[in-house]
Amino acid sequence: MRQSELDFTNNLRQASPYIAQHRNKTLVLYLPGEFISNLKALQQLCKDVVLLHNLGIKVVLTLGASPQIDATLNRHHLTWQTHQNTRITEANHLPYFQETIGGVRAQVEAAFSQASAEQKSHITIVSGNWVIAQPKGVIDGIDFQHTGTFRKINSAIQNTLDGGQIALITPLAYSLTGEVFNLNTRDQAFAIASALSAEKLMIFTSADTLLQLPKSLSLTETAALAQTPSLAIEAQRLLQSALNSGRKINRIHLMSQDMPSALLMELFSREGCGTLIYTDRYHQLRRAQLDDVMGILNLIQPLQQQGILTTRTQASLELEIDHYWVLEIDHRIIGCAALYPIDANHAELACLAIDPDYRGQSLGEELLNAIQTKAKHSGIHTLFLLTTHTQHWFIEHGFIEGTPAQLPKQRQAYYNNQRQSKVLKKSL
Ligand SMILES: CC(C)(COP(=O)(O)OP(=O)(O)OC[C@H]1O[C@@H](n2cnc3c(N)ncnc32)[C@H](O)[C@@H]1OP(=O)(O)O)[C@@H](O)C(=O)NCCC(=O)NCCS
Repeated sequence: MRQSELDFTNNLRQASPYIAQHRNKTLVLYLPGEFISNLKALQQLCKDVVLLHNLGIKVVLTLGASPQIDATLNRHHLTWQTHQNTRITEANHLPYFQETIGGVRAQVEAAFSQASAEQKSHITIVSGNWVIAQPKGVIDGIDFQHTGTFRKINSAIQNTLDGGQIALITPLAYSLTGEVFNLNTRDQAFAIASALSAEKLMIFTSADTLLQLPKSLSLTETAALAQTPSLAIEAQRLLQSALNSGRKINRIHLMSQDMPSALLMELFSREGCGTLIYTDRYHQLRRAQLDDVMGILNLIQPLQQQGILTTRTQASLELEIDHYWVLEIDHRIIGCAALYPIDANHAELACLAIDPDYRGQSLGEELLNAIQTKAKHSGIHTLFLLTTHTQHWFIEHGFIEGTPAQLPKQRQAYYNNQRQSKVLKKSL
């Protein structure tokens, strides 16, 4: 079999559990105006949305149009004001908003028609007045006029999704008194996903914003990071919106708008490629402290007795605690892992363990991802590990089999020939 065929079949197999997991779930996807203005990216994305639909996922597409609106207003030599980073929509500008947003919508519908025809899929994308808006009002003495906020969503959208159609939502929404409002669509996407209790909210944002964020965050970590003063406004806003939506959306994925295929990578690959905010997790992933030594010992001692982990004493743990990371729930250590540097470019992952009561919830994967991110940021390009029982789990997470001779020299000296552990390695 050729390499490309092998890759294809392996990738499809790897995607299988995710396909089953996402079927019949609701996914809200936010496309900023910058993304839509890249026709190639838009066409690619529409094909992927058709694919999601064919896999049984219910998709709500929310569109932004900021750069397009800026361009229209500039073309007509119109100026506008902002307050708290939000545009004030004047009544006499509204026709330009309607014209521009109508144009953006048509562009998406056209790309969609092409994508569904190419994939011989007879689905339609439907827009409707599901979102009920209210005026943003007067803040700090400044009237936001026709800038609105999300008030609620008409439950009829569910019929559209259940009927096998894709719902399209633009930045324009209407109040119950029939007024037209321009809404911040990214905020709107959060509100819609919360109102629909969506399984996933997927947001395209700038690559620069993503650079400031780690690969995964629990809500507790999100709250801590949102306070970081050096964080760019866009990143702060996204984290704050995630916090505001509480636990109503299970998972929020942030993806680079320069990578349309990020949508499929995030949904169907183990490692994803953006930032994932888990709101359905109550645990904390953090660096270990001396106080955690007893908790780590309780976790690893049964595994040491079974010969799954090598023996570490209380004294050695105390000495090496800075290398450890732990997962904690209600002051109880339920997971640990250690990262030992070997030289400037090589490190060893060791002592990965999850409490048996908490296995099978991807917590081992979360710890592994955290260690890998930490190693990568420290300039490590190859991660090694030695295992006697867990080889397959690591291979499923991208490690490949190596030999003791491939370990850096200083680590080879400590290789325990009696244990005959398998050496695995991964390029980061
Ligand atoms: C390996 C370990 C850390 C995984 O933690 P986890 O939180 O359960 O991992 P995830 O939820 O991400 O993955 C669970 C999957 O891994 C599989 N798995 C667990 N142990 C495995 C092993 N030894 N070999 C192959 N697959 C294994 C589970 O069957 C499950 O598969 P499924 O999703 O098809 O049901 C955990 O099983 C553990 O603590 N094992 C004992 C300690 C150990 O072996 N550590 C490695 C030392 S080098």
